[in-house]
Amino acid sequence: MTQLLRAKISALGIYVPPRILSNSDLEKLVETSDEWITSRTGIRERHIVDQGTATSDLALAAAQKALAEHGMTPNDIEAIVVATVTPDMLFPSTACVVQHKLGAKGAWGFDLSAACSAFVYALQTGAQFIATGAHKRVLVIGADVMSSIIDYTDRATCVIFGDGAGAVLLEPAEDDSVGLIDFMHEIDGSGGCALYMPGGGSLHPSTHETVDKKMHYVHQDGQAVFKYAVRKMAELCEKILQRNGLTGSDIDTFIPHQANRRIITATADRLKLKPESVIINIDRYGNTTAATIPLAMETAREQGKLKKGSLVLLASVGAGFTTGVTLLRWAY
Ligand code: UT7
Repeated sequence: MTQLLRAKISALGIYVPPRILSNSDLEKLVETSDEWITSRTGIRERHIVDQGTATSDLALAAAQKALAEHGMTPNDIEAIVVATVTPDMLFPSTACVVQHKLGAKGAWGFDLSAACSAFVYALQTGAQFIATGAHKRVLVIGADVMSSIIDYTDRATCVIFGDGAGAVLLEPAEDDSVGLIDFMHEIDGSGGCALYMPGGGSLHPSTHETVDKKMHYVHQDGQAVFKYAVRKMAELCEKILQRNGLTGSDIDTFIPHQANRRIITATADRLKLKPESVIINIDRYGNTTAATIPLAMETAREQGKLKKGSLVLLASVGAGFTTGVTLLRWAY
């Protein structure tokens, strides 16, 4: 049997648009308060694009930073996977737009839709191309312009989301001391109605009526998602730790999807993680859907918590429902 190769993350780049939407800005738009938002979610501000900036623009900027960090040119990229729930348009894929803007002439690619779990799903998808030896350099990008599908008169959703992008480069690891170790993914479509955007697809193509009914915006049953996320994030983390003969205290850096500070701390408590291992940056960025995990990787790096050999656990729960966890050792 052919030996599978282990993939490693060899570069990271992030980008958020410069414009900041603070809690006090939101107090002027809807009936809310800085106190409610920070105590219920942990969010203080989020970055929002100006009109005319698309997901591909954020993805491109993040990808360029990742390539620059590695000293690589766009021509070195063999495949591009863009994780997003806010593609520039339904088709062509945002991966095609990014490939063109980046000038990655030799790359193929596609978009991957798994909402907040899309980055970890894309990471594993990219890793399979490395594992089989099909490719040596895969660009995995998580990018979302959530402000394009948010109703800024709905206080239940508009305070939560922000825009951003993060990109990582995957390459074969030189040996098994670093790289992606294991993953577990789960979907549960029975939770679809808890978090979704009903309009604009083949079921409800856009019409005046769908727009009047605000079907082109995010609809969320916050409590249902919250309960599922608290239960599932911990459950899958426990399973992957157990399968690898580890406990929570073995984890050097826990990088969870940033949806709500309370979901993260509940998971960290249940797993008995070292408090200093838990990365939280939701205060600065809000929930940027597919971008939260690479943005949090960068925060971990800023805090000196990603070193060569660091044992890292990534975890996400999102619309679908989708859940994903990945265990890896940081490679550089
Ligand atoms: O990444 C995708 C996955 N998404 C998530 O993980 C989101 C998970 N859910 C959550 O994070 C929380 O459920 C929310 C932050 C969305 C909401 O927090 P909550 O503690 O579950 O609040 P709630 O929905 O139970 O609402 C409590 C009260 C309600 O008022 P009444 O009925 O008690 O009078 C809401 O109308 O808070 C009210 N409320 C607000 N008040 C001030 C809802 N949104 C706001 C707001 N400002 N922005």
